[in-house]
Amino acid sequence: MSDIREEIEKRRTFAIISHPDAGKTTLTEKFLLYSGTINTAGSVKGKATAKHAVSDWMEIEKQRGISVTSSALQFEYDGCVANLLDTPGHQDFSEDTYRTLMAADSAVMVIDGGKGVEPQTRKLFKVCAMRHIPIFTFINKMDRDALDTFDILDDIEKNLGVATCPVNWPIGSGKNFRGIYDRQLKDVLTYSETLKGTKEGVENRIPVSDRSALSSAIGEEATEKLMGEVELIDGAAESFDLEEVKAGMLTPVFFGSALQNFGVEIFMHEFLKMAPAPEARKSDMGLIDPYSSDFSAFVFKIQANMNKAHRDRIAFMRICSGKFRSDMNVKHVQSGRVARLSQPQQIMADDRKTLDEAYAGDIMGVIDPGIYAIGDTFCMPKDKYQYEGIPTFAPEHFARVRQVDTMKREKFVKGITQIAQEGAIQIFREIGTGMEEIICGVVGVLQFDVLKFRLENEYNVEIILEQLPYEHIRWVKEWNGDVKEIVGTSDMKRIEDLKGNPLLIFVNEWSVGMVLDRNKGLELAEFSR
Ligand code: G4P
Repeated sequence: MSDIREEIEKRRTFAIISHPDAGKTTLTEKFLLYSGTINTAGSVKGKATAKHAVSDWMEIEKQRGISVTSSALQFEYDGCVANLLDTPGHQDFSEDTYRTLMAADSAVMVIDGGKGVEPQTRKLFKVCAMRHIPIFTFINKMDRDALDTFDILDDIEKNLGVATCPVNWPIGSGKNFRGIYDRQLKDVLTYSETLKGTKEGVENRIPVSDRSALSSAIGEEATEKLMGEVELIDGAAESFDLEEVKAGMLTPVFFGSALQNFGVEIFMHEFLKMAPAPEARKSDMGLIDPYSSDFSAFVFKIQANMNKAHRDRIAFMRICSGKFRSDMNVKHVQSGRVARLSQPQQIMADDRKTLDEAYAGDIMGVIDPGIYAIGDTFCMPKDKYQYEGIPTFAPEHFARVRQVDTMKREKFVKGITQIAQEGAIQIFREIGTGMEEIICGVVGVLQFDVLKFRLENEYNVEIILEQLPYEHIRWVKEWNGDVKEIVGTSDMKRIEDLKGNPLLIFVNEWSVGMVLDRNKGLELAEFSR
């Protein structure tokens, strides 16, 4: 029992949220470098080689040279076992990116210091905020010209609606980057051109009270400026409150350069110290204690055909309580089936490692016999609860789907329905039209290509996709009457999802407000439970 507690307390399960190019991959690589998982920087990434090596599962990935799927990396650092969930972020941004956040206990937000908050960060932040998970901010690329530090903090507060608390403070940026000031220890970590990029990164630690040493290390002008700024932030910045951090209301902010290995180790150390171990999770029978000896988990992602030779489907689950052993029987609650999980494994890049045991907080992949779905619960045979489902996130792109050969109707419907059940795409139909008119909705446009590719390769069905102009979707949450009676706008369409829930899609966001104004008692929601 006690070893379970000890193991679970060490777990830190988190995801990195960022806009493409902010430095997520570089930071991940540095985490692995400092944890000793890899020996030299550059072995995870380098656009030509490593990004592909991280995940090369699907044929389409090879063709396009990007990663469509995602994985979880585990590493140890400072006595913690970190589980880093990879959130697909470039062209491969999809609903999976959002779902992965459902499995994380905290998030690291990487922001490019020269750009501030960018659109993809905002979208991902919204999902984290919905779950009230703690968010730790790393302002990256300080070795390049950055925005004014006060402006960056202001941007985060205004744009994302979260209070900020700088844990350290940058001294200049770009050519004038001299280091960071550690507000806790009140010393300056100096950045040097000669050490940049080496594993040590930091040249010296100089107490801010030793003014002359500081001045000779970073120059009198930078020292003056720093003193002024320190006085300002000590007076104006939010005071640090760990409870607010844990509730996701206050984000601790760190500065550095992932590429130059500067500020990363300090960030890692502090962030893993503050980040929560697995906490109780909501089920339909109340909160489930992660430290209970009984195993439980939920599926947050299903990945088909990761390896052409296997042609299998892998269900990724997040363990929520207890300890998993590969020889134990567990219950798949939705089917009632009790069995051993098939080939439990930890998946890093395209490398699969068989798991003998795992603990709450850990992520594992198992072979899906074709009956698992996103959101499903696994627990001990005696238990009967289910974890809260994963919300369906609003697609942002829509297309009408037609098959080329109308004789293959059945195959087409089967294929598209199966792919939708996996959660790769969402399908809708115009209200009252059955399956004749299928509208497909996706979070990232690449999913359209994935759909076309998979229907052709797995179901031998060719399709034509006609992209539609709708970009905003709302589920009808409350409406007394027939959906057809909702007074719409010219750019609105009424559709329903596979479960028969009615929805409205719009070309313009302002139409959403207009429709709400025109229909008293109508309530719309951005995602469905
Ligand atoms: P992403 O995963 O968030 O998309 O970002 P990624 O780490 O791939 O970084 C995007 C680009 O920014 C890369 O350059 C990377 O080297 C650079 N970068 C990341 N962190 C820093 C930093 O702290 N300072 C500076 N100056 N650059 C940084 P690239 O030229 O696009 O790729 P590569 O050819 O270097 O691999």
